[in-house]
Amino acid sequence: MTRIGTPLSPSAKKVLFLGAGELGKEVVIELQRFGVEVIACDRYANAPGMQVAHRAHVIDMTDASALRAVIEQERPDLIVPEIEAIATDELAAIEASGLATVIPTARATQLTMDREGIRRLAAETLGLKTSPYAFASDAETLATEADKIGYPVFVKPVMSSSGKGQSKVDSAADIQAAWDHALTAGRGNQVRVIVEGAVDFEYEITLLTVRHRDSTSFCAPVGHRQEGGDYVESWQPQPMSQAALEAAQSMARKVTDDIGGLGVFGVELFVKGDEVWFSEVSPRPHDTGLVTLSTQDQSEFALHARAILGLPVDTSLNRPGASAVIYGGVEAEGVAFENVAEALAEPGTQLRLFGKPVSYEKRRMGVAIAHAETIEAARAKASRAASTVKVVTN
Ligand SMILES: Nc1ncnc2c1ncn2[C@@H]1O[C@H](COP(=O)(O)OP(=O)(O)OP(=O)(O)O)[C@@H](O)[C@H]1O
Ligand SMILES: [Mg+2]
Repeated sequence: MTRIGTPLSPSAKKVLFLGAGELGKEVVIELQRFGVEVIACDRYANAPGMQVAHRAHVIDMTDASALRAVIEQERPDLIVPEIEAIATDELAAIEASGLATVIPTARATQLTMDREGIRRLAAETLGLKTSPYAFASDAETLATEADKIGYPVFVKPVMSSSGKGQSKVDSAADIQAAWDHALTAGRGNQVRVIVEGAVDFEYEITLLTVRHRDSTSFCAPVGHRQEGGDYVESWQPQPMSQAALEAAQSMARKVTDDIGGLGVFGVELFVKGDEVWFSEVSPRPHDTGLVTLSTQDQSEFALHARAILGLPVDTSLNRPGASAVIYGGVEAEGVAFENVAEALAEPGTQLRLFGKPVSYEKRRMGVAIAHAETIEAARAKASRAASTVKVVTN
């Protein structure tokens, strides 16, 4: 039996978010619909998720004592990490002491904040097929390992996300530059990187995998296109051979079963014909899954909310859809969005404007989402809507 109380009363079911960006904002809204009391934390004021939560705290989430202080003050039932850069060892201590439940588990946050943890688990413990890889903590080792793997290679700091400090390297001549670039994502002149052989994939997918009270369910695969390590466009469903879909689901099940807990996972996979490679996994809704706001009765955010509350879920797909990112394009505070009506003129089009207080050139400020009869039509419609919106300063 699941029980939900009244928010802002002693019976409240309380959920605390660590990270309150655009993905957290959608999950907060879904929890609000159930009358859950929501507290949002991030490192800056007025983060998207804070604007729809009951309360907010601005804290440095990598600071263990600040993290513990806010959790002891708020006493949430559930802690929902939305980003990777948090004091995960402190979260593990909080979970172990029974103070709160971490979604999906504290170990999941420890494993996935470090590419080495999750890669070794997937490839070495679970035997999933991945790109060839090695780790390096200096430029010399990086050069040696890249030579062994063979060019081109991808070099990524083990602690980084959204393409930060990443390079694709075509030859030994560019290794030093890749090392220097990786340093920009580390602290001082210390960084550890993973070097991966390039997988010659046909397409890449996110397999949204939901661990819920009854079992594990999968959404239809989401296809996406990345530029510089950041997603620019996604669509659902991505057509796949039956063999590839089965391999993808089997890999996703293995890795999420090992991690355990409740909630949505974004399992990133590369596909060529019937062959599937595991890339990485987010123990939370995935940016490419924004498309599910239009394609499913229960978006990935609704699924996450339901799963973590112990409620039943339905992952079925209603129709093809697509999402296209709206970038800031400018560095400014308090930007405005023009042509919003024009962007929404076509039936089957939606917009999310995240309300981020500051815009940067490459910051994701909004997204256009569309559904249509075919995947191609949905992609074209979402792209038209996204490019119609103009970000302006006063
Ligand atoms: N070994 C590889 N072979 C081929 N392409 C790769 C490889 N590694 C990364 N890529 C490309 O770069 C993209 C970003 O890589 P990855 O997901 O590892 O980085 P990330 O920083 O975690 O990005 P995000 O946070 O947006 O998921 C991948 O989606 C893929 O398009
Ligand atoms: Mg990724």
